[in-house]
Order: sequence, then structure tokens, then C-alpha cells
Amino acid sequence: MSLHLGDLAPNFTAQTTIGEIDFYEYLGDSWGVLFSHPADYTPVCTTELGRTALLKSEFDKRNVKALALSIDPLDKHLSWISDINETQNCNVDFPLIADDDRKVSELYDMIHPNASATATVRSLFIIGPDKKVKLMITYPASTGRNFNEVLRVIDSLQLTDEFSVATPANWEAGEDVIIGLGVKTEDIESKFPEGHRIVKPYLRYTPDPTKQ
Ligand code: BEZ
Repeated sequence: MSLHLGDLAPNFTAQTTIGEIDFYEYLGDSWGVLFSHPADYTPVCTTELGRTALLKSEFDKRNVKALALSIDPLDKHLSWISDINETQNCNVDFPLIADDDRKVSELYDMIHPNASATATVRSLFIIGPDKKVKLMITYPASTGRNFNEVLRVIDSLQLTDEFSVATPANWEAGEDVIIGLGVKTEDIESKFPEGHRIVKPYLRYTPDPTKQ
């Protein structure tokens, strides 16, 4: 199944390293990051899961729950996690889905046949509390993802969900944001009392509204 931004993220039940879960129940009112890995006991994946575990407090701060997936079976996941904890100096406590029947991989189109007929690529979905798909990225097996970028994107998604703003290239939380094109110039002062600057009629900045 191919998903698009704004689609309802399909629900599923799955065996994971923390027991059987219902995806929607696991997420509750949180944001979610669902991300796939090509296989267990592989080096890049080991670092990715380790990095996610080490960023736990950052994910918690943003009310985000992580959920990883690989198509290997549960017993293999559990022994691999011991290696990850040992080598990455972390504690992987978020669930890793044992998708050996590929149910979830197929639901989320995580197998790209021209990359590999059998293994999942590095897909990553950010799901909002409304269970809609907010962001999708896809990396090949050979390139590990940047989880600081995932956090940065979550900051942008959460901000733009709440305020009529967009975030410019390379934006980091706390930096000026772009006033949404839907906001009329005459309404800027009342909507953004903390100030603004107009560079062009379509390029208008205001301080990060969460930092006031
Ligand atoms: C890795 O995680 O290191 C990896 C997995 C599959 C192919 C290439 C690299």
C-alpha cells in the first residue's frame, strides 16, 4: 500500500520486543516515529537503534513514541538488542516489531523491490496525534539516518501544527519562522505581537512563537 502525507496511518497489531501491541493503542495521544531497518545484526541499524535510545529524553520532551521494525523474528530481535545496548551504551526500551510475515512492511510499503526483493529499506514515518501521516523519509540500507534531523522535523511539525507559520531551510527550534502565506499583512501585528519583518510581501518573518 502506498501512503501519502495526510493519509490516516494504517493501524495494526504486531509482535514486538515489549509484547504484542496495537499501534494506535501504543501511540495513545502521542506523536509517533515508525521506522524500518533492513535486518537484525547489521552495523548501520545497530547505530540507528542505539542513537534513538540515547535520544529518549528528547523524544519524551516532544511527546513522541518510537517504534522500530525489522522483518526478523522476535528471538533474534531480543538477542540483537543486548548487543545494541552493549555496543552503543544505551537501553533500547522502545518496541522493535518482529515483522517476519511482512504484514506491517507491506502495509507501509517499506519493501522497495529494486533496492531489495526481501529486506525493508530505511523508511521513517512521523505520525501525528490525529494518526495522520505527517512526514515520510526513505533512505537506502547503506545510509544511516540523522536522528537529530528527525527531532528537528518534529519541532517544525509541532510548531506549524499550532501556529500559522512555516519553517525556513535549516531552521532550528528558537530561530525566526516564516509567517504563513495565508496570513494577511494587515493581520500580522495582531497574530504575531512579538514582532515581524517583511523582506518581500511573500517572505515575512516572526520570532519562534514558542520562545516568547
Ligand atoms: C546495515 O545496517 O549496516 C546494513 C544493512 C543492510 C545492508 C547494508 C547495511
